[in-house]
Amino acid sequence: MICVIGGAGYIGSHCVKRLLERDHKVVTLDNLEAGHRAAIVGGEFVQGDYTDRQTLDTLFTSYPIECVMHFAAYASVAESMTDPAKFYRLNVVGGYTLLEAMRAHRIPYLIFSSSAATYGEPRQIPIPEDHPQQPTNAYGETKRAFEQMLRWYDVAFGLRSVSLRYFNAAGADPEGQLGEDHHPETHLIPLVLLTALGKRPVLKIFGTDYDTPDGTAIRDYIHVTDLADAHILAAESLKGGAPTTAYNLGNGLGYSVREVVRTAEEVVGHPIPQEEAPRRAGDPARLVASADRAKRELGWQPQYADLRTIIETAWRWHSTHPDGYGDRL
Ligand code: UFG
Repeated sequence: MICVIGGAGYIGSHCVKRLLERDHKVVTLDNLEAGHRAAIVGGEFVQGDYTDRQTLDTLFTSYPIECVMHFAAYASVAESMTDPAKFYRLNVVGGYTLLEAMRAHRIPYLIFSSSAATYGEPRQIPIPEDHPQQPTNAYGETKRAFEQMLRWYDVAFGLRSVSLRYFNAAGADPEGQLGEDHHPETHLIPLVLLTALGKRPVLKIFGTDYDTPDGTAIRDYIHVTDLADAHILAAESLKGGAPTTAYNLGNGLGYSVREVVRTAEEVVGHPIPQEEAPRRAGDPARLVASADRAKRELGWQPQYADLRTIIETAWRWHSTHPDGYGDRL
């Protein structure tokens, strides 16, 4: 059985769905602080906090868990700069509590949601896994810190793990059942589509003077269902004896903010109100993954790599769920 911590969140919920489709037994642990009850499409559900050892002890005694997939973390880069304590408390101290409980209950495998933010300002593009990890924000630092803990928990205790460094998670369940619903929303694609729906007045383009062909920042958008599939492959690899490691998950393709907006206009069929705005603090000009290792070693093959497809799936969700899951109105 697989325990999905944060399985009511954006990426976690897509992973639960994919696991169930592949006949895995799943138990989701989520405190619903940011997650949505309606996003858990099946399996068992326990509402609770993974930072609470008692909750973990009960969960790990009640279910025959072999692998934990850990999605639950604070992820706002901006907030991490004003309240790093909050990020260390959940992402690092909470992570320590989880690892100690896994150790005590002899749960052998963990898949961890890491981030391209662990690299900091890129020195080369595309970014390979052995690129130096020098985060430029506290969020990335907490993800890096937990990756380091994982390394030593393997050396000393034999707990094996895969850290998956996501680039820009995007899109929604191709069947339209699940989507992205953050409060507040800060990500580009949902904001573009909510603006197209008239739920937001105007899309601000943060920075038009970057050293890129059209002056706007370039990111590597990767479909959330492709991320989910990589988790399942990573879990299978650990079970097959693979060592602790980390993989980048991206498409290796960069799209600028203007390209995203233009493609979204094609998908929705009308212009989207937009205005130029100053750069957002801490945003690098380009982040593009080299994901060759995940493809080679895990046999991962993204199915929804094309930007238009990613935006079409997101549009299907937003246009049919203009208030998201409707539980935070
Ligand atoms: N952007 C806009 N207008 C908006 C929102 C975003 O122009 O209203 C721009 C940003 O400035 C950036 C790009 O769109 O250039 C993408 O921004 P997102 O906020 O969607 O994503 P980020 O690249 O900033 O961050 C994401 C994750 C972080 C993670 C980072 C690197 O949200 O958690 O990728 O992995 F740290």
